Amino acid sequence: MNPTQIRLDFPLLQREIEGKPITYLDSAATSLKPVQVIDAVSRYYSETTANVHRGIHKLSEQASEEFEKSHEVIGKFINAKKEEVFYTKNATESINAVMYSLLTNDFFQSGDEIVLSKMEHHANLVPWQFVEKKGKAKLVFVDLKEDFTLNMDDLQEKISSKTKLVAMAHTSNTVASINDVQKIGKIAHDYNALFLVDAAQSVPHFKVDVKKIKPDFLDFSGHKMLGPTGTGVLYAQKNDWKKWSHSCMAAA
Ligand SMILES: Cc1ncc(COP(=O)(O)O)c(C=O)c1O
Repeated sequence: MNPTQIRLDFPLLQREIEGKPITYLDSAATSLKPVQVIDAVSRYYSETTANVHRGIHKLSEQASEEFEKSHEVIGKFINAKKEEVFYTKNATESINAVMYSLLTNDFFQSGDEIVLSKMEHHANLVPWQFVEKKGKAKLVFVDLKEDFTLNMDDLQEKISSKTKLVAMAHTSNTVASINDVQKIGKIAHDYNALFLVDAAQSVPHFKVDVKKIKPDFLDFSGHKMLGPTGTGVLYAQKNDWKKWSHSCMAAA
């Protein structure tokens, strides 16, 4: 790896602030954009902009083709089918889309529980607090161990037949732990609960395979992994579609 060469891909790093070169260490919040991405966005606006799936002219056809192709590329990246990939504005919107889909489908009944962990980002907390405030479910939080990893024994204790959803970070932005989401998902599904993985900090860093993890929903952000600002992804497992797809697609 040649960092000097890599820096050349990022026009913003050619800037100086107060006479000093920039060292950018905030990619987990949002990454800088390489020239290849800036050029692709610019090319789209210069050459292909048109209403996707809502026009019968050539430009609209081309834009629609590109739009569909991009779903295939993103799908391959996480080993999902193209039709299981929905675009959102960011990971936060992906989780909110799931929350609204479940609410509008009357998925939660009072007495139900949602299991989260104590290492969740606000994006995977506030939407479920909204459900709790509506009196639709109670939030239950799994403890962390002293080394800041998830306490799997506590998860086993807190999950029960009342659990309708387990929503957990794959990689925590607060304590940097990587959760064994394959194992957590298996436990959730053994209790017939849905399983949402907040993969906003994992997809940008290592291979994430939805066929292995088997989540019902998985979210991540484009803007944290060199993509344009205002891009996020929601993966929704196809079998769940029959139940949730309409509102899911409407939201996402
Ligand atoms: C673990 C985690 N989940 C969700 C989010 C929210 O991501 P976004 O800014 O794409 O909404 C973040 C952002 O830092 C995060 O670290």
